[in-house]
Amino acid sequence: MEEAIGKLLESASRDISQCGNDLRELDQVRVRYLGRKGDLAQLFKQLGSASADDRPRLGKLLNEAKEEIESLLAGAVEEGKDRLLEGRREVDVSVPGRRPLQGRLHPITQTALEIGRIFSNLGFETVEGPEVELDYYNFEALNIPRDHPARDMQDTFYISEDVVLRTHTSPIQVRVMEKRNPPIRIIAPGRTYRCDSDVTHTPMFHQVEGLMVEKNISFGDLKGILTVFVHQMFGPHVGLRFRPSFFPFTEPSAEVDMQCVMCKGKGCRVCSHTGWLEILGSGMVDPEVFKMVGYDPEVVTGFAFGMGIERIAMLKFGIDDLRLFYENDLRFLRQF
Ligand code: PHE
Repeated sequence: MEEAIGKLLESASRDISQCGNDLRELDQVRVRYLGRKGDLAQLFKQLGSASADDRPRLGKLLNEAKEEIESLLAGAVEEGKDRLLEGRREVDVSVPGRRPLQGRLHPITQTALEIGRIFSNLGFETVEGPEVELDYYNFEALNIPRDHPARDMQDTFYISEDVVLRTHTSPIQVRVMEKRNPPIRIIAPGRTYRCDSDVTHTPMFHQVEGLMVEKNISFGDLKGILTVFVHQMFGPHVGLRFRPSFFPFTEPSAEVDMQCVMCKGKGCRVCSHTGWLEILGSGMVDPEVFKMVGYDPEVVTGFAFGMGIERIAMLKFGIDDLRLFYENDLRFLRQF
């Protein structure tokens, strides 16, 4: 009998370990050994025919064997349940989902859209023009003669004698005026190209052109519109300065400075200690340009302006290196 108990224990522990924590198989093992008609019950029955001297000892052995098998089984079942849960975790609907990678607009695009939004509220429509442009629109119709320094090979990318990569967005002024009659209120954002590359210049950059043509448009309108723009873009307390300048297609012309956003006009490295930052070129449309598109300069007047989007974005976001815009470093781009 003692031998039978030993063998039973041995085979039970072997069977349990062979179940590999499968709960259903473990239950079959339980029935086989611990069930009412199981192997252990069989041995308990035989206990009756043992001698009165042996019975207590054998009874104790049998009980110990039963407890041993029960605890082996309980351990295996526990582990089996853990495994099942682990498997379920892969489809646990309560686990938060993974977010898809989210793209965002480039800071230059964001700035262009913001400029567009402000001017749209002032009644300006956004239009576009070609980046590969005729010499005529880029220069000739803008009163820039053949010997003007801007046409120098150093500044302009020539595709052919008559075709260039536009060096500014001003040709769009001409294209719009050729097709439409006043009143005109447009802005035109886009890429522009100059044969120029250093810390503060990239061969491709962005501009926004503005044009307003109607009867009785004055320099006061130019100042008013641009002041509203700067105040909406940078805050209502930023000071502005209109400085006399020259462009072949505007007369009179002015460059617009705004108070340095970094030092609030006190003078710092960014503004070269002047307290002012140049942000755009502007002026009253030159009568020569009106004549080129068939407008009568005695009847209509207008103003135009052009600004670099990179410059506005740098001032808006406090970026001090132009090249960051074009490196496509996600660590930079994700900040906007
Ligand atoms: N096109 C000029 C430039 O690129 C800016 C400008 C636009 C000036 C319109 C006056 C009027 O510098």
